[in-house]
Amino acid sequence: MKAIIIRKHGGSEVLSYEEIPDPVPKKGDVLVKVNYCAVNHLDIWVRNGILGKKVSFPHILGCDISGTLLEGFGNFKKGDKVVVYPAFESNVPRVSFGIIGGFGKYKGGYAELISIPKNNIIKKPDWLSDKEAASINVSYLTSWNMLEKSRCRKGDTILIWGANSGVGSSAILLAKAKGLKVITVASDKNKIKFAKKLGADFVIDRNTEDIIAKVLEITNQVGVDAVIDHVGAKTWPVSLEVIKVKGRMIACGTTTGGEATVNIRSFYSKEAQIIGAYLGSKSQLVSLHKFMKLKKIKPVIDSIYDLKDAKIAHQKMEKSNQFGKILLQISN
Ligand SMILES: NC(=O)c1ccc[n+]([C@@H]2O[C@H](COP(=O)([O-])OP(=O)(O)OC[C@H]3O[C@@H](n4cnc5c(N)ncnc54)[C@H](OP(=O)(O)O)[C@@H]3O)[C@@H](O)[C@H]2O)c1
Repeated sequence: MKAIIIRKHGGSEVLSYEEIPDPVPKKGDVLVKVNYCAVNHLDIWVRNGILGKKVSFPHILGCDISGTLLEGFGNFKKGDKVVVYPAFESNVPRVSFGIIGGFGKYKGGYAELISIPKNNIIKKPDWLSDKEAASINVSYLTSWNMLEKSRCRKGDTILIWGANSGVGSSAILLAKAKGLKVITVASDKNKIKFAKKLGADFVIDRNTEDIIAKVLEITNQVGVDAVIDHVGAKTWPVSLEVIKVKGRMIACGTTTGGEATVNIRSFYSKEAQIIGAYLGSKSQLVSLHKFMKLKKIKPVIDSIYDLKDAKIAHQKMEKSNQFGKILLQISN
């Protein structure tokens, strides 16, 4: 089969398009023909490497997959269109689960074929196209989980960082559909325009505006009920400043670094909460599908590249030039 493999960690130049042997399914696995695989920032973390995290080379990236079953099992038939729930039980203490194509034992979806535990297979909803179905299993699922953890109710106000990113754009769409008032942050006029198109009520330009002052002005000096923070070190101090008394900050990412200096006094005197979010459960993915159908939400796709052009897709994400999800087309 054709696949993008990495033989070592490094920049986008380590992504190599090659012919490699087809995977042989292990006991309990099933073979899936990959139709689309979305690019997520996790792919870049794994490609670059993180100290203390291991992969076995040659490795295949990619966890956000829609495909076609090459054999039937249980209620599934050969030829069924499916999506892959990306997490599997981890054998590393204190990590609840590993991610397919991430750090760990499972090879990912930047390939024509993938061997997947049967338990990770979910029927592709009919109302989603193959490419749409491949866009939801990571960013949208994580945003859904974060919104649930935020405990926000209709009419509450939420701050969502990075409107153009996968997590930011999905969180805006889902939060608006849940009836929340959304303040988001973007960094240029096209990203601001995009955020407004997604339905954000207020968009703050982080290059020209004082974010804390602006959020307090919008919320009559009260602050927001919750913040969705996927950006990390650079945004944590601001996130904690703009949440209201008893507000919640939900964190899932470290795009700008994993060590932040925050105002601890401001945090505890508000009796605020910091809550971590790691993907979401399989049943949350199924309830997300139902919610998106009910609210007629389609994922926002920025661009689709051929598998062999994965390098260009990675470079686009690293420059934060995307407006929604970047996909790799593998077959179909
Ligand atoms: N925990 C989990 O399960 C989980 C799941 C999914 C994703 N994540 C993590 O969440 C993060 C987002 O992933 P992604 O794939 O959606 O997209 P991404 O490509 O990492 O998105 C980057 C975003 O960060 C914003 N940003 C960068 N520097 C900033 C700064 N100094 N201040 C404010 N915003 C800044 C960018 O906005 P501008 O373009 O305006 O700079 C852009 O919107 C990643 O770190 C990823 O690993 C975690």
